[in-house]
Amino acid sequence: MVARHLISLDDLSDDELHDIVARGAEPSRSRPDSPLAGKVVGIYFRKTSTRTRTAFSAAALRLGANVIAFGPDDLQLNTGESSEDTGRVFSRMLDALVARTADDPEEMRAWADQDRMAVVNAMSADEHPTQALADLTTLAGRFGEIEGLRILYVGEGNNTAAALALGLTRYRGTHLELRTPPGYGLTQDIRERAAKLAASSGAIVHEQHDLDDLSMFDVVYTTRWQTTGTTKPDPHWRTVFAPFQVTTELMDRFPDAVFMHDLPAHRGEEVVAEVLDGPRSIAFDQAENKMHSAMAVLEWCVAGNGGRCAAPA
Ligand code: CP
Repeated sequence: MVARHLISLDDLSDDELHDIVARGAEPSRSRPDSPLAGKVVGIYFRKTSTRTRTAFSAAALRLGANVIAFGPDDLQLNTGESSEDTGRVFSRMLDALVARTADDPEEMRAWADQDRMAVVNAMSADEHPTQALADLTTLAGRFGEIEGLRILYVGEGNNTAAALALGLTRYRGTHLELRTPPGYGLTQDIRERAAKLAASSGAIVHEQHDLDDLSMFDVVYTTRWQTTGTTKPDPHWRTVFAPFQVTTELMDRFPDAVFMHDLPAHRGEEVVAEVLDGPRSIAFDQAENKMHSAMAVLEWCVAGNGGRCAAPA
């Protein structure tokens, strides 16, 4: 079994992505057969995390694997050991490495330059692929099918938005409408990649920098304004973001829509408490789905055909 890496959603074929999402959303999600028994999963987070780190740790344990956790100060990377050597050493001991760096994904690509240990991106600067898989799992669980869903994303075009754009466009007839503050939109690279995927699936992905001319949506989605708690160089950024808060008035424009948030949330900033804690919010189901989709990811990249996902080509 050759290890499979998930550093970007681009690493998954459409069938693999759809299969992981469907697996995560299955109503009966217990794995009594422990498909990862005897495997060892490393969890290396250089940045803070509540959901993703716990989701992958719990997922590995629920699948029967053992877990080794490394904090930001634990590895010789800090004293100058190369990424390549770190990956080579880890791959002799671990079956999978789940890592959050919040840096350039090239470092993860260096760790993945071997085929013994799977490398999973638990968030890099450009993309948060496992968040998108959890989001798609949530949509599949809530709506039955993802094809044709219309999502309004309000807020910064950060790594969560990027992954959503690269994931939702793999489903036929979906519409992702991004309304991002001026100067804080998707990168050109992500816009172009998402547009290419949309052209092939018949999806729509569109971005503009105001809240005018909105049609009907099934979901309103936002994220924290300060990704991983980092602030922005422009001292006036809050003024630019203020019109993009998700309020009850905004939700009232879409009476049938549910509300999603990748969390952590700052009530009173990107969303008001009445929306996040209200009856239309599925943000905490979405958080739980991080664990269910993490199980599907680990099955795909570590257990191979022991899981339900597609065999390697
Ligand atoms: N949504 C998300 O990635 O949460 P954490 O930062 O807590 O992992």
